[in-house]
Amino acid sequence: MPKALVAYSTRTDNTAKIAEYIAEGLRFSAADVTLVNIKNIKEESQLEGYDIYVFGSPTYHGEMTNSMKTFLFLSEKADLAGKAGGSFGAFGWSGEAPERIYETMKNVFSMNMTPDGPLMLKSGDLEGGMKMAQAYGRKLGGMVA
Ligand SMILES: Cc1cc2nc3c(=O)[nH]c(=O)nc-3n(C[C@H](O)[C@H](O)[C@H](O)COP(=O)(O)O)c2cc1C
Repeated sequence: MPKALVAYSTRTDNTAKIAEYIAEGLRFSAADVTLVNIKNIKEESQLEGYDIYVFGSPTYHGEMTNSMKTFLFLSEKADLAGKAGGSFGAFGWSGEAPERIYETMKNVFSMNMTPDGPLMLKSGDLEGGMKMAQAYGRKLGGMVA
């Protein structure tokens, strides 16, 4: 059974909700999922042992959160090369964060990123995006199964 880590930061819980939908999709594809707010990840060892990594942050002032920036530096120390990956985030109008995370996972960590690209959901229509987020998770699970 593939193991997946869904790690997110959030300020007002929209990105947390997307993380839950992605985790549901991963479970549909029989992955064993760990869903965690990155404020609870302190050590690189907590990133070890997964086949699929999905990282998410909302966009504030055109950027990912500071905690996600710090988390990506921690992730750089873990050996994620070749692992399946995806990114996501809630946004209002521009949504830079999921794209930046995706590019970092691809270009710096050399991960096998989903061809679907980053998953971006507008904060006003999260329920409408539920199926999209579940499908995103299911397809990520399929990359390893
Ligand atoms: C002060 C402030 C700045 C924001 N800046 C952006 C932005 O630059 N681009 C964007 O797409 N959304 C922006 N948003 C909207 C948030 O990304 C949106 O509310 C998102 O759902 C928050 O996700 P969260 O609940 O996971 O924190 C901003 C919101 C606030 C309150």
